Amino acid sequence: MRIGARLMDQGMNGTSVGHVNHSKVGYINGIVKKKRCNRRIRRHRALPFPMALQDLFHACQDVFKGPGTVPTPEDVQRLCHILDHMRPEDVGLSQDLQFFKPKSKTKGTPRVTSTTIYQCDNFELCMFFLPSAGVIPLHNHPGMTVFSKLLLGSMHIKSYDWVEPQQVSNGSTMSSKLRLGQVKADGVFTAPCNSSVLYPTTGGNIHAFTAITPCAILDVIGPPYSQEDGRDCLYYKDTPYTTNAALNGDTIQPKEDGERYGWLEEIDMPANAQMDQIEYLGPQVIENRGR
Ligand SMILES: [Fe+2]
Repeated sequence: MRIGARLMDQGMNGTSVGHVNHSKVGYINGIVKKKRCNRRIRRHRALPFPMALQDLFHACQDVFKGPGTVPTPEDVQRLCHILDHMRPEDVGLSQDLQFFKPKSKTKGTPRVTSTTIYQCDNFELCMFFLPSAGVIPLHNHPGMTVFSKLLLGSMHIKSYDWVEPQQVSNGSTMSSKLRLGQVKADGVFTAPCNSSVLYPTTGGNIHAFTAITPCAILDVIGPPYSQEDGRDCLYYKDTPYTTNAALNGDTIQPKEDGERYGWLEEIDMPANAQMDQIEYLGPQVIENRGR
């Protein structure tokens, strides 16, 4: 079954997306074929060759040279410029898909679906599909730079960076694992909007997404998560920072700089962090094209 059909199925009857080995994933051309007489949908036919995705791929090849790479401002500008102009159709999506209808409902806990467009040791291109009220809980990106482009929908994003030097609660009534984070983003983003970037230590490296309407987000991650290389994904629970915060004996001074802070506590992987994986069969990147 193709991506559009799978996502439509999910939207209509709440069934989860099938396992990659048991389902095929297509793109909007597949839907166009089924409804060839429907002019409104045909308008969203993807271009035969998705230049934007290919440009993005080549830029990633140039920019990400492995662990330790943090893109220069010029490289960030190059990647953001491409991402800012990308449309859902560049990766085989359309707002006409049933999944993205605002009234589309899922049964039970809304599960997030992900798909990988391309992955190598240096970077990964992937997408996440969040049904309404779907959540990607608070998690980090150790040593990584992540470009995110919201392609469809509306979502709330909250993000933190660690406060340095490290400030850890030594209160007796709360866990000593609490570490102070500074709020970097806490607001609603609606597509079409520009891409955002987080870096290893700045830009909101620890973030959470909550879908207000069904969403699709395209991520460029460099380098990808790797347990072997010490880039495992950790999850957190946040508690608003207050100056008295019931932190008995805590020596942290009240924050009066107008910034917002939160205590972050590492937690086990929450149940809603589990995602369904689907195969990507949208427009493909061609590894040696134009090189
Ligand atoms: Fe993330």
